Amino acid sequence: MLLKSFFYLFFCPLKLVASDGVQQSRPVTVDILVIDANDNTPTFSQVSYNVELFTNMLPGETVLQLTAQDADAGLNGLITYAILAGDQGDFIINNRTGRITLAPRVTLTVGRSYALTVRASDNAPDTERRSSITTVYIEVLPPNNQSPPRFPLQTYNLEISEAMRIGAILLNLQATDRELDPITYQIQSGDPQQVFNLSRTIGLLLLAKPLDRETIDQYRLIVTASDGHPGGISTATVSIVITDVNDNDPTFDLTLPRNLTVREEEANVLVGQVRATDPDAGLNGQVQYRLLSFMSLFTINATGSIFTAVPLDRETRSRYDLIVEASDGAVDPRRTTITLLVEVTDINDNSPVFSQPVYTVNVPENTPSGTVILRLSAVDADLVSNVTYRIKTEAARQLFAVNRLTGAVSVLQALDFEDLAAGNSTYTFEVEALDHGGVLPPGTATVIVRITDMNDFSPVFRQALYKGLVAPNAEKGTVITTVLAEDQDPPVSTQSPNEVYFCDL
Ligand SMILES: *[C@@H]1O[C@H](CO)[C@@H](O)[C@H](O)[C@H]1NC(C)=O
Ligand SMILES: *[C@@H]1O[C@H](CO)[C@@H](O)[C@H](O)[C@H]1NC(C)=O
Ligand SMILES: *[C@@H]1O[C@H](CO)[C@@H](O)[C@H](O)[C@H]1NC(C)=O
Ligand SMILES: *[C@@H]1O[C@H](CO)[C@@H](O)[C@H](O)[C@H]1NC(C)=O
Ligand SMILES: *[C@@H]1O[C@H](CO)[C@@H](O)[C@H](O)[C@H]1NC(C)=O
Ligand SMILES: *[C@@H]1O[C@H](CO)[C@@H](O)[C@H](O)[C@H]1NC(C)=O
Repeated sequence: MLLKSFFYLFFCPLKLVASDGVQQSRPVTVDILVIDANDNTPTFSQVSYNVELFTNMLPGETVLQLTAQDADAGLNGLITYAILAGDQGDFIINNRTGRITLAPRVTLTVGRSYALTVRASDNAPDTERRSSITTVYIEVLPPNNQSPPRFPLQTYNLEISEAMRIGAILLNLQATDRELDPITYQIQSGDPQQVFNLSRTIGLLLLAKPLDRETIDQYRLIVTASDGHPGGISTATVSIVITDVNDNDPTFDLTLPRNLTVREEEANVLVGQVRATDPDAGLNGQVQYRLLSFMSLFTINATGSIFTAVPLDRETRSRYDLIVEASDGAVDPRRTTITLLVEVTDINDNSPVFSQPVYTVNVPENTPSGTVILRLSAVDADLVSNVTYRIKTEAARQLFAVNRLTGAVSVLQALDFEDLAAGNSTYTFEVEALDHGGVLPPGTATVIVRITDMNDFSPVFRQALYKGLVAPNAEKGTVITTVLAEDQDPPVSTQSPNEVYFCDL
């Protein structure tokens, strides 16, 4: 059984039914718990290996790297290597890695040969342990003056920041060559864009081009060291992981609408949505939003949805330039802003208002019917306001008319000052301005029409003929008779009468 982890358990629910050929039992559910059994043996890729060594090999140098595979999980797949026989004290094996090296203080002798029996066993409990063996044949040859250069390590792992400056030394890959031949180094593969520069002669790995973790976050270079002789080449692997620096600003998704609308008078309604992304890793790429303008009127939530915080009044302000900032989660965050245009759409929430609460107008009496005496004017703050006018006071509609569209007030019949009760020469009435929908209360104002007197009555003598007697010698200044004339126009002043008398001789 191949399992990912030693401690994994598999539950397989299974339904079983028992039958005697005629009758069947009720189904029973059986849970089967499968744990990893040690059913794989560690295996070498080859039955035997042949190795040629040279007498000038030094203690500690690698003879052969053995690798056995075991597909079992956990300890059942953990391999321990051991040389069982044949080493004659000249070779040792690393029980974990399977690397066979020349034992310390050993000098090889030309012509000797060895046959090592090497076992790979897993670490299952004793009774279940599995193992296999291979044979390593070793022959010792005269000194080789053509051995290839050797890297100190087969694999190098390093992490470098994407902010690393160009020219920085990343790694010293210097190899050694027993014959002291000059070594040339090369990157064989893994760097098509030549981001790295391995100096040909000294084996220093430098950064040649800027790194960008957001484009490529790791490299696996195969580097070679060559002494120039045939077969005089060896390789090592350099695995490079690029770590993040916060080098990207959050960017807003510009495909989302930036011209938004919201109805006035509504709180907590969705106005729109922004979205920003940041390709940096971890906190450096975690975007959060906030508003930089009109924070008391709008809110934005963690996922970029914008809401009204309070009911907006279009008549106060109909457009908002809403600035939204996206910042990343770094200690010193990078920020980007976007400006949204929020247009508040109108609802009919205002009554028309007259230009003045009281209109007072003086109208001469006898003004002909149809004369416009006054223009009313009311405005409605709503966008669609179609104000119409009417006279509210019913009694006044006999005397006055208002044009419902223009607000022009006219007299319906000639008004007679003298018909009015004494001391009351005014008409007072209410007018209304109604808006389009007519749902809101109309605006009202008071109109006071003051009728002014025209001298429309001639004085009339009380008598058609006055007779007076006067003596021929009467003195100048003697009263002959008293004539009296009156008219119906009201007195201009209380002291002096309206009438003026003179003799037409
Ligand atoms: C493997 O070798 C190390 C020392 O190299 C030793 O401490 C350890 O006990 C060995 N393990 C086995 C299972 O032989
Ligand atoms: C690599 O570095 C060497 C100096 O170390 C320089 O002369 C050479 O031009 C560099 N090559 C590239 C491709 O950058
Ligand atoms: C958004 O509104 C601005 C200003 O009114 C206008 O210039 C622009 O064309 C509008 N954009 C869209 C996509 O409607
Ligand atoms: C933000 O608001 C939107 C729309 O109501 C909602 O779908 C989303 O879950 C909210 N995000 C958070 C983090 O509450
Ligand atoms: C305003 O009122 C007039 C008359 O009632 C009507 O003809 C007109 O269509 C209205 N205008 C609007 C914008 O409603
Ligand atoms: C004036 O006349 C109007 C009717 O036109 C009446 O309502 C009002 O009470 C009168 N006022 C006085 C002071 O007589």
